[in-house]
Amino acid sequence: MDKRFYVTTPIYYVNAEPHIGHAYTTILADFLKRHYSLMGYDTYFLTGTDEHGDKIVKASAEAGARPEEYSNRISALFRDTWRKMGLDFDDFIRTTEDRHRKVVQAVLQKVYDAGDIYFASYGGHYCFGCERFFTEKDMVDGKCPDHNKPLEYIEESNYFFKMSKYQGWLVEYIKSHPDFIRPERYRNEVLAMLEGEALEDLCISRPKTRLQWGITLPFDDKFVTYVWFDALINYISALGFPDDAKFARYWPVAHHLIAKDIVKPHGIFWPTMLKAAGIEPFLHLNVHGYWNMEDAKMSKSLGNVVRPLELIDRFGNDQIRYFFLREMNFGADARFSEEAIVNRINYDLANDLGNLVKRSFDMVRKFFDGNIPALEKSQNAGREALLSKFSDALSSYTALVDSFQFSVAIEKLWEFIRYLNKYIDERKPWQLAKENKTAELSSTMRNLLESIAGVAVVLSPVLNRTSPVILTALGLPADTGLDRISSLDALATGSPIGEMGVLYPRIEKEKTKAGPISSIEPTPAARAAAGDGLIDISEFSKVDIRVAQILEAAAVEGSDRLLELRVDSGSDTRTIIAGLALYYKPEDLAGKKILLVANLKPAILFKRTSHGMLLAAKKDKKDRPVLIEVSDDIPVGAKLS
Ligand code: MSP
Repeated sequence: MDKRFYVTTPIYYVNAEPHIGHAYTTILADFLKRHYSLMGYDTYFLTGTDEHGDKIVKASAEAGARPEEYSNRISALFRDTWRKMGLDFDDFIRTTEDRHRKVVQAVLQKVYDAGDIYFASYGGHYCFGCERFFTEKDMVDGKCPDHNKPLEYIEESNYFFKMSKYQGWLVEYIKSHPDFIRPERYRNEVLAMLEGEALEDLCISRPKTRLQWGITLPFDDKFVTYVWFDALINYISALGFPDDAKFARYWPVAHHLIAKDIVKPHGIFWPTMLKAAGIEPFLHLNVHGYWNMEDAKMSKSLGNVVRPLELIDRFGNDQIRYFFLREMNFGADARFSEEAIVNRINYDLANDLGNLVKRSFDMVRKFFDGNIPALEKSQNAGREALLSKFSDALSSYTALVDSFQFSVAIEKLWEFIRYLNKYIDERKPWQLAKENKTAELSSTMRNLLESIAGVAVVLSPVLNRTSPVILTALGLPADTGLDRISSLDALATGSPIGEMGVLYPRIEKEKTKAGPISSIEPTPAARAAAGDGLIDISEFSKVDIRVAQILEAAAVEGSDRLLELRVDSGSDTRTIIAGLALYYKPEDLAGKKILLVANLKPAILFKRTSHGMLLAAKKDKKDRPVLIEVSDDIPVGAKLS
């Protein structure tokens, strides 16, 4: 199949304003659209609003408006919010539109004609406040938990979809299409629902005597269709099902994005509805976790910024996109906190990327009058290694995005960004300038600018406002494609670089209390020393202290104290979590030779496993730790004895 990609978000209920949860899914869809467009796909991105049902009638009554007026207002609020956030949806569907109503009615008629919709009466416990039936499970002491009033047993006739008929087919389908629902935990969840008990048929109507705000059933005008049979069909009504070319083009490549709250309707109702209507299932249902707010105490300061636009006004558009995509491990819940946002901005964007770009541009201004220097054949400044790092980063990144592991994917690019910072530190362009090594200096700077252009292009789906700024400053089109940068030779020698200001201003945090260097367990020797103060030589010799080298360092999300270090111990590369963030910048640590306690039991800190501890001395009364550094001539792996 040629390269096509159709991505949808849930259509959001208009009984509430857009919030960060809605913003996350919509930003993710926008990112995917941009990413696959960059990869040469023909893409289509759909979002919209879900406007029928008694929830909406109730919300509009509370707002003193008619449902139409109210829906128009909130739907416009969603659309405007996404537009202001630069989200590039191709279509915005509303369930109150005629084009949607017609398709819902056509599908209902088709399923009805096929004999999969029937009329039946049933009795149930009804709450007149909520205007809905409660199951035995949902009621509390026979009462409605919301209204705390006794439920009334009433009988009603309604239309039902024979969902049970497709249970076996769906189980088989999910089993034979392992990626149909992903990540796996949600696939298993749906399978457990299907294999646990017999599916009940789905009630799809409400009598108009009880609800008018819906789509009239084509085969009985005294009823409207209810909630899911209306809402889910948006994914095909927006494509002009059945006859529009858009439907033929994009439906076979449909990727739905949802959070875990609506797995059942999407994983069970929707595929069985499609099957009954004779329509092929969607390609993937992609389920993400929930953003949870910090506990009440810590969320106070955030109380005023959870509206997406306010969040963006405060922290910046690309900063929030980056935070959302990098911080959430797709499928799992994530913590939404001001501290985590600020850390991502300060460490990843300001320190790593912002600094790389600024340092490189400053040096090109200083050493080459602001003109792009040439790549000198005589001395290419380690270009082969750089190219191979870049192409490795790019292929890992694209493979990880394909498997919806966005956070790790972005981290792969960040490894390359940190490598570039290290490239500067190691090549020391200022020294090359001092020593008049012009060819090497020229190639070094050219390699850096080319790499920055490469990173800016690959990251443009994430950083959709700042990537074009970087590219333009390098004299490239704002929408430069992958082809142009894949071999890192996109730039024109001699052309001037532009100005771009500070890309990601650092955010000052309120001072947080500094804790001890880290909560890694004390060494056995230290524990013994806590006794009579004296240890035996045999005890000391149990401790494996050796020379190691820090390869890279990065902030630990959620902590302003800890750094995650990758350390070469001489026999392995390991992760150490150390309480150094208040005292060292991550980029200052890479390359340092230090002392490592290599045989400590692993300790878990901030969900990461730390394999050892670095030795530091407490410099002053404030217990400021200073890492014990080892001179360059002692090899990595050398043991202390
Ligand atoms: N109208 C239905 C969906 C119909 S789709 C055919 C609905 N609407 S909703 O307004 O409640 O939106 C739910 C969706 O909003 C979630 O599936 C998710 O995409 C997003 N989120 C809402 N709160 C969220 C979090 N706290 N965290 C992450 N996403 C969240 O359900």
